[in-house]
Amino acid sequence: MLIEVQGVTKTFVSRGGEQVVALAETTLDVQQGEFLTLIGPSGCGKSTLLRMLAGLVEPTSGRIVWQGTAPARGSEVGFVFQEPVLLPWLSVLDNVRFPLDTFGVDRRAGDEAARQTLELVGLKDFARALPKELSGGMKQRAAIARALVYKPRLVLMDEPFSALDLLTRDRMNDELLAIRAEVGATIVFVTHSVEEAAYLSDRVAVMSARPGQIRTIHTIDLPAPRGEAVKDLPAFHAWLSQLRRDLR
Ligand SMILES: Nc1ncnc2c1ncn2[C@@H]1O[C@H](COP(=O)(O)OP(=O)(O)O)[C@@H](O)[C@H]1O
Ligand SMILES: [Mg+2]
Repeated sequence: MLIEVQGVTKTFVSRGGEQVVALAETTLDVQQGEFLTLIGPSGCGKSTLLRMLAGLVEPTSGRIVWQGTAPARGSEVGFVFQEPVLLPWLSVLDNVRFPLDTFGVDRRAGDEAARQTLELVGLKDFARALPKELSGGMKQRAAIARALVYKPRLVLMDEPFSALDLLTRDRMNDELLAIRAEVGATIVFVTHSVEEAAYLSDRVAVMSARPGQIRTIHTIDLPAPRGEAVKDLPAFHAWLSQLRRDLR
């Protein structure tokens, strides 16, 4: 096990002054090396849960416990957002090296690590490009490279492919699986797409809204490694129906 979410509740105070329970009494294990996906209606607390896993937001009550004694330091967690956040005045290489700069890694070692990670995400030839010269899918690959460059134990991805067209999204899904096979990081992923959830995940946690809670967790027993052929299996379609039912 990598992380235990123990009875975590998160309450926000809205601008009007009322309390909003974003997440209620949530208990969840994140297993070492797994691909865990959270699905659920808008506002059910998915992003809040990711931010708490990243240590960006403190639970109101309950605890998030990392395996062993290591606390969740910044360099142990990579975060990929829905909109790739790249610094427009920096080259792709400099964007990817940026977290290493902030961790105090020297420039040469940082460049080397950034180049290797760009190769991993298929952007080797765009190291000198500026973000505005990249397509949406390429920008998101650069953002993924930046989240992987310091080899975090945990990669959190909040609807990373939602803004992409379907074909690009399918391609990014396969690339993500390949990258994951190579780096072996634990991934917690958020999506609205049951297809994406079933295709990518070892487990899918289905959440319900108001108050945000985990309703059920499925182990997706589809063959590995996943590939396009999986999408033709009756078992894949059975999972889509199951997840859609759960979301209703
Ligand atoms: N910083 C915040 N201040 C106040 N309310 C918030 C804040 N962040 C999230 N919320 C509220 O918490 C609930 C869960 O939000 P969020 O985690 O973003 O949901 P999801 O990602 O599943 O759509 C929503 O009702 C949202 O309005
Ligand atoms: Mg969200």
